[in-house]
Amino acid sequence: MSFKSQLIGRIGEELTREEIELVPAGFQKVGDKIIVNLPLELEDKYQVIGEGILLIFPSIKSVYVKVGEITGELRRPQIELIAGVDNSIVENLENGVWYCYDAKKIMFAKGNVSERGRLPKLVTEGEIIVDMFVGIGYFSLPIAKLAKPKKIYGIDKNKDSIYWLKKGIEKNKISNIEVIEGDSKKVVGELLSRGVIADRVLMGYLPEPVEFIPYALSILKKGGIVHYDALIRTDNVKEDLQRVKALFEESGRKAKIVNPQRVKSYRPKVDHYVVDLKIY
Ligand SMILES: C[S@@+](CC[C@H](N)C(=O)[O-])C[C@H]1O[C@@H](n2cnc3c(N)ncnc32)[C@H](O)[C@@H]1O
Repeated sequence: MSFKSQLIGRIGEELTREEIELVPAGFQKVGDKIIVNLPLELEDKYQVIGEGILLIFPSIKSVYVKVGEITGELRRPQIELIAGVDNSIVENLENGVWYCYDAKKIMFAKGNVSERGRLPKLVTEGEIIVDMFVGIGYFSLPIAKLAKPKKIYGIDKNKDSIYWLKKGIEKNKISNIEVIEGDSKKVVGELLSRGVIADRVLMGYLPEPVEFIPYALSILKKGGIVHYDALIRTDNVKEDLQRVKALFEESGRKAKIVNPQRVKSYRPKVDHYVVDLKIY
């Protein structure tokens, strides 16, 4: 039975016919918490809905509602408790990797699960990787745990992300990630002066991190790989991929798209892709 039917089965009597229409079909489950996206029209019923969700899923301890978009360059979510205990600390095991974070402060894109599974399979033993937007280790943790890179330099300018990345490293018992707090444009320069050259650079940030491309290229070896988060129009895929290739070639280096990977829908008619480029 669908989530919506189950919820209506539990609390349907407390909602009007119009309100039932507005109940969403799905939700996000992270660890023992559920985060739902409810319209403002249902505000008076948030608590009732939250309690209904607790009844459906006995293992769930807290229900939060999204009260705004994920904002700012540090990608902070906005959620509020509607039922259960107010504990937004998440420890979530996904494909053998622990991700730790505070859901009130840190976003976690469930939809990027395919990428978290795909990237470790591409990494060969001994690689040097620079993750320019490491966050809580969305990609670096699975790569460090499931592949055998020599070292990952994980950079983020959000103190909260850095705090939770360190927790994730501890929890996963990982030793090959060097965590660096700071602006990746600046940190890349510092790594270069330490003699670091990368086999692979991760550029996991949306909207597209166009202005970071020269920095990524500056530290990438000839024949190295970049994973670039791109927004691709569903009816102009070829043209938009050419645009991405051209962005990388503006610097004078040759780029070849080795895999344009569709990740998820970003908004109507625009998809989130991770474009893998080989750079010569
Ligand atoms: C949302 S996360 C990455 C999400 C992840 N790629 C995923 O798809 O699940 C983006 C991260 O980039 C960080 N960030 C933004 N601008 C930055 C900069 N100039 N230097 C370093 N980190 C930055 C933010 O703090 C945030 O943690």
